[in-house]
Amino acid sequence: MELYNLKDNNMSLIIWLDRYDTGITEVDIQHRRLAGFINTLFDAISHKDKNSILNQTLTDLINYTIYHFKLEEDLMQKHHYNEYDAHKWEHKLFVEKINHYIEKIQINDNKSLLAIINYLKDWLLNHIMITDKKYVPAILPSMSK
Ligand code: FEO
Repeated sequence: MELYNLKDNNMSLIIWLDRYDTGITEVDIQHRRLAGFINTLFDAISHKDKNSILNQTLTDLINYTIYHFKLEEDLMQKHHYNEYDAHKWEHKLFVEKINHYIEKIQINDNKSLLAIINYLKDWLLNHIMITDKKYVPAILPSMSK
């Protein structure tokens, strides 16, 4: 129910905090963009063009997510990151899950929409804070040389 209250307050779902940054500029720009798509989904729920915004934003989100994962995977490979396989696996499962949600999504069911959007938010922030932050020491020092 907390999410409904947030919606009533007209706030963004994700307010970006400095601690979400990895220090790798391109990665951080892309993470902010992903958060922006999730905020757009959240805002769309109360918009009169809800259906078209949701459909377009879900397509944008999946395409941009794949683009972002490729950048990270290339970086990890280039820097011989030893947890590359596990990280890539997490990416793969997330893409499968988004595709599953897109197939099942009920545009007119706000409760399930909010649950999906909340899942996307939690996944992104947890993944950044735990899994992405783990590769930073293996990549960032050699990027700044
Ligand atoms: Fe930024 Fe591993 O996704």
